[in-house]
Amino acid sequence: MSLDSLKALEGSLDHGLPFANQESRSLHIAPPLHEPTPEVRAIPKASIAQQDVLLFLRALPGESVDLIVTDPAYSGMNQHLLLGKGRIVGNYQEKEGNRWFEEFHDTPENYGQFLSECRRVLKNDRHLFLMFDSFSMLSLGALVRDFFNVKNIITWDKVNIGMGHYFRRQTEFILFASKGKRPVTRRDIPDIWKIKRLHRASYPTQKPVELFEAMIASSKAEGDTDFVVCDPFVGSGSAAIAALRQGSRFVGCDTSEKAVSLSRKRVKAFLKTGIDIEQEKPAFDEAIQKKFW
Ligand SMILES: C[S@@+](CC[C@H](N)C(=O)[O-])C[C@H]1O[C@@H](n2cnc3c(N)ncnc32)[C@H](O)[C@@H]1O
Repeated sequence: MSLDSLKALEGSLDHGLPFANQESRSLHIAPPLHEPTPEVRAIPKASIAQQDVLLFLRALPGESVDLIVTDPAYSGMNQHLLLGKGRIVGNYQEKEGNRWFEEFHDTPENYGQFLSECRRVLKNDRHLFLMFDSFSMLSLGALVRDFFNVKNIITWDKVNIGMGHYFRRQTEFILFASKGKRPVTRRDIPDIWKIKRLHRASYPTQKPVELFEAMIASSKAEGDTDFVVCDPFVGSGSAAIAALRQGSRFVGCDTSEKAVSLSRKRVKAFLKTGIDIEQEKPAFDEAIQKKFW
């Protein structure tokens, strides 16, 4: 898919929201690190394609995005969460036949191709935030070192306990890596992020917008006026809303029709009204936000 076709995507979501009044959490003031290229300027405010991650990334021009924040559908996790006679913990198996959505076949070969494409589309001196559950972290996390400089692993503390077999899960991980050199926007951000998990969300693996906002705010400097965020496993579109809230543009994809239609609807409503119809309540409670941010 070329940038022209990306622009022309049905559901191309450019409604021209002015960002001047949007609050930025980043305190770091720096001059722009790169002038945007014509290809990057051509990406609309938000564009979500229904496509496989590898096909989607391969069609993006090299060095065309400023930040990748993503939460892949790991197949390894569900294999490890099978209980007794094959019941999967959580609600991934409801709806649409047996599953809500297809998983990405995260063999080391596929995962290597995914990482190599992420590296190609990311500009130099830029960051990657890659979410992992503990099983995928064990099997695939080390591969990231073949493509990026791994800087840290952030623990997402969901505040409330979740499901789980042998110790109930309250955390997930976010691998933080760079292509080249780039500082984070603040030096006082801890590597444990307390952000409440969502209850009763429309999409089964929907993450709080604040989680992606924290990633973007710690990478996007105030001088980065034309910043493009990419999430190629977009799901409900939480990363897209986070990008728009942080005054960035967004490009992403998902194979699931349901995800694409939900995330496009969500982004359109946000661009029109400034309201996030899928997460009206903030996931940061004030006490936590004061400590963290
Ligand atoms: C963990 S969910 C992402 C949830 C998202 N972060 C949110 O907050 O709603 C992973 C998504 O990857 C999608 N997916 C699975 N295989 C894919 C593939 N090969 N290419 C692109 N997306 C895929 C699934 O449909 C699912 O929506």
